[in-house]
Amino acid sequence: METLRLTTKEEDIRRAGEIIRYGGLVAFPTETVYGLGANALDAEAVASIYRAKGRPSDNPMIVHIADATDLFGLVEGGAAALGADASRLITNLWPGPLTMVFRKSDAVPAVTTGGLDTVAVRMPQNQTARRLIKDAGKPIAAPSANLSGRPSPTTAEDVLEDMDGRINAVIMGEACDVGIESTVLDLTGNVPQILRPGAVTKERLSEVLGREVIYDASLTEDRHDASNEEDVRPKSPGMKYVHYSPKAKVRIIRGSTEEFTERARQIGLDAAKVGRRTAIIDYDGDPEKAARRLFADLRELDRQGYDIILIRAIANVGFGFSVMNRMLRSAGYDIVDSSETR
Ligand code: TXA
Ligand code: MG
Repeated sequence: METLRLTTKEEDIRRAGEIIRYGGLVAFPTETVYGLGANALDAEAVASIYRAKGRPSDNPMIVHIADATDLFGLVEGGAAALGADASRLITNLWPGPLTMVFRKSDAVPAVTTGGLDTVAVRMPQNQTARRLIKDAGKPIAAPSANLSGRPSPTTAEDVLEDMDGRINAVIMGEACDVGIESTVLDLTGNVPQILRPGAVTKERLSEVLGREVIYDASLTEDRHDASNEEDVRPKSPGMKYVHYSPKAKVRIIRGSTEEFTERARQIGLDAAKVGRRTAIIDYDGDPEKAARRLFADLRELDRQGYDIILIRAIANVGFGFSVMNRMLRSAGYDIVDSSETR
């Protein structure tokens, strides 16, 4: 199929809304990453998202809404069933990079939730995303707009790299502000639990809720070999799949800029002897900068044909914890200290 390039002008957004209403697929910008959207209530349309991405169909979608009131029809028991935690989070942190998991209503097809009886919902901040959802008049199911396993796209060009010819249209909006996907918070248990870390940190959630928030055990485990995955099964099904993988081999190195630079230089020299090219990235310990650049850099370095990508670690706290989660996954958990010789 031919993939339409749409602008953010009103008539183009209207066209995109129409495509969604008719069961088509439209990629669109959000503040986190680009999403690949379809009508969340149309099982056929949602099934075609899995096909376009080459995604396993047990991996559930996030449903995007433009108004908090759109949430009521998606959750079991409607507005009356939303607890105090949900209300606080909606008031303080929506719209924004926070996804909440609730028990789902019958209105949400099983295909949208990968067969789960829960539904993940997010109200994005990005104006183009909000206009599209409003114009479509439907909640929009949207995973990140990449082929399954590839780094999430943070520019319209990166969407086209994976999706040109596979979807109906792309809204050619701006580069994403945050650069990594939303925080996914499970509200169905006794204690709110983070299934995927993002820009809304654990500390911020605790502050808003006035109580403890915990990480899913799979996020804080040190070892991530295959045997371990058996014991600590992530509750967020998407977290168990290979993710964010460029073609190049990625390695994370801890240490000061000087230590990192020296170690990276040595590795680069060794690799050059056997004809392999090494790219070296230092985000200066800045989590916002790292988040904004990471996925785009991985894609760009792949295009340039690098074999090895060495990235300096950032501090594993606050938003840095979320960014390190993506870096480590893109590296297959290959992380060393500058002083280590392996
Ligand atoms: O920032 C984002 O969240 C982006 C933009 C487009 O909004 N979307 C995104 O979607 O990252 P996706 O499909 O790439 O990731 C959705 C994550 C997966 O890890 C999935 O397993 C989890 O959310 N998820 C979705 N529904 C869930 C549910 N009912 N229970 C637990 N986890 C769920
Ligand atoms: Mg994704």
